[in-house]
Amino acid sequence: MKRNIILIGFMGTGKTTVGQLLSDKLGHTFVDTDGLIVEAAGMTIPELFEHKGEPYFRDLESEMLEKALQREGLVLATGGGAVLRERNRNSMLEGGFVVALKAGAEHIIDRVKHDANRPLLAGDAEARVRKLLQDRAEAYDFAHLSIRTDELAPHEAAGKIAEAWTSAQR
Ligand code: S3P
Repeated sequence: MKRNIILIGFMGTGKTTVGQLLSDKLGHTFVDTDGLIVEAAGMTIPELFEHKGEPYFRDLESEMLEKALQREGLVLATGGGAVLRERNRNSMLEGGFVVALKAGAEHIIDRVKHDANRPLLAGDAEARVRKLLQDRAEAYDFAHLSIRTDELAPHEAAGKIAEAWTSAQR
């Protein structure tokens, strides 16, 4: 029995959109770790990176992830970099059914290029996306299931995840 559905994936792959549709469909509660971090720190993500630094953000991210995964019945969307620590990957695999959302560089760039809320993409967003996608090429492969969100509408992606999750419960 998997307790939660955990969405992982690069920035701009639709974790929030798909996660909200999925939680409505299943009657689960939608939570995202970035939201928990902002609430706990009383600062936006760009402010956290600027004033406290990325390692501080990553520690808070691990803490919020572990805390959220003590709960049940969540659809939990995680930040794109949450998969980078082994400790986080282990908590995710223990805490539920892990689903990776994947999309091509062009699709991602289109979705994130005008967003000022992602400090890792500051400056030349397109070049940053391409570089980080390379660095993280295999980072999302530990998931139980992978779904392409550039080939499916968000409600179709949510439907596929709901189906797979239901089968995984048996
Ligand atoms: C990050 C992704 C962001 C946020 C932070 C760092 C990353 O979340 O956690 O800006 O390292 O990929 P989203 O994936 O929700 O944009």
